[in-house]
Amino acid sequence: MGSSVIEIIEKRKSVRAYESTPIDGEIYHAVLAYLEIEENLTGLFGGKANIEWIWAKGDNGEKGIKLGAYGLIQNPQAYLVGRIKNEKKALVEFGYIFHKLILYLTGLNLGTCWVGGTFNRNSFAREIELGQDEIIPCITPVGYAREKQRLLDTTLRYVVKADNKKPWEQLFYDSDFETPLTREAAGALVSPLEMVRLGPSASNKQPWRIVLSGDRRTVHFYLVHTPNYSGNKLGFEMQRIDIGIAACNFDLVRYELGIKGSWVINDPQLNVKDQHTEYIASWSLSPGSSHSGD
Ligand SMILES: Cc1cc2nc3c(=O)[nH]c(=O)nc-3n(C[C@H](O)[C@H](O)[C@H](O)COP(=O)(O)O)c2cc1C
Repeated sequence: MGSSVIEIIEKRKSVRAYESTPIDGEIYHAVLAYLEIEENLTGLFGGKANIEWIWAKGDNGEKGIKLGAYGLIQNPQAYLVGRIKNEKKALVEFGYIFHKLILYLTGLNLGTCWVGGTFNRNSFAREIELGQDEIIPCITPVGYAREKQRLLDTTLRYVVKADNKKPWEQLFYDSDFETPLTREAAGALVSPLEMVRLGPSASNKQPWRIVLSGDRRTVHFYLVHTPNYSGNKLGFEMQRIDIGIAACNFDLVRYELGIKGSWVINDPQLNVKDQHTEYIASWSLSPGSSHSGD
């Protein structure tokens, strides 16, 4: 990829208008090779996802989808289409797996956009012969980003306040939900956390909340459900995917920084702010390792 994960995360943003330039053959084959590696399709807890490349236009092979995204996405060259079993935990895993792919594509200079709501599910389901117990949680268009994004994209970014990422004190906590986490107290975890903050989420709700344990060794991930959120009414809870995305950004950055640890599901039973806050998973520093130089 050449760039660091941090640079890639900082560079990525949703692209909804693409150039007509066809995707370079080498790039296409690199993506197919990426999708053949089992580890790339495996989540934090061993869950699997299936991801397929579908050309956007009919003339590139047998498969081809036209107007798959209600005109919101202009000129995509292809789509990557995810499928999983419809289970709660699988959605978090899918967020992790698909976001890792999105970052890989960003590193290849391809534009992407997580799309979970505004696409024609039925036409994609037909195209990939979706099984009865499976869902397509999200797709992404791919192609080269058009320099000047369309008015529609600019308007959508304005409506969902896409460039408005919540500040630290609204997302990250120290020991409990009462005390905001300062950057100093986060030690070397400051960058992995900052990259969580910059991640994409459905309608930019940023529903992730994180508590760093008092001993600075464990990071607990929570989901604050947005009440009555339309994205959660598609037969699955879209916002679980957002937590997988947060975990992905955190995990890839801490790995790049050489901070060793592992994922567990072990609810610390902290007092949460309200009934909308749900514990999802934790990351723990390996025994004997440190991240703050102490
Ligand atoms: C799970 C998920 C589903 C999304 N669904 C849609 C969608 O249906 N249509 C769309 O235009 N954007 C969709 N987005 C993109 C978000 O609106 C976008 O990530 C957010 O506004 C932040 O902007 P950024 O990605 O440029 O940082 C989705 C994002 C996520 C993570």
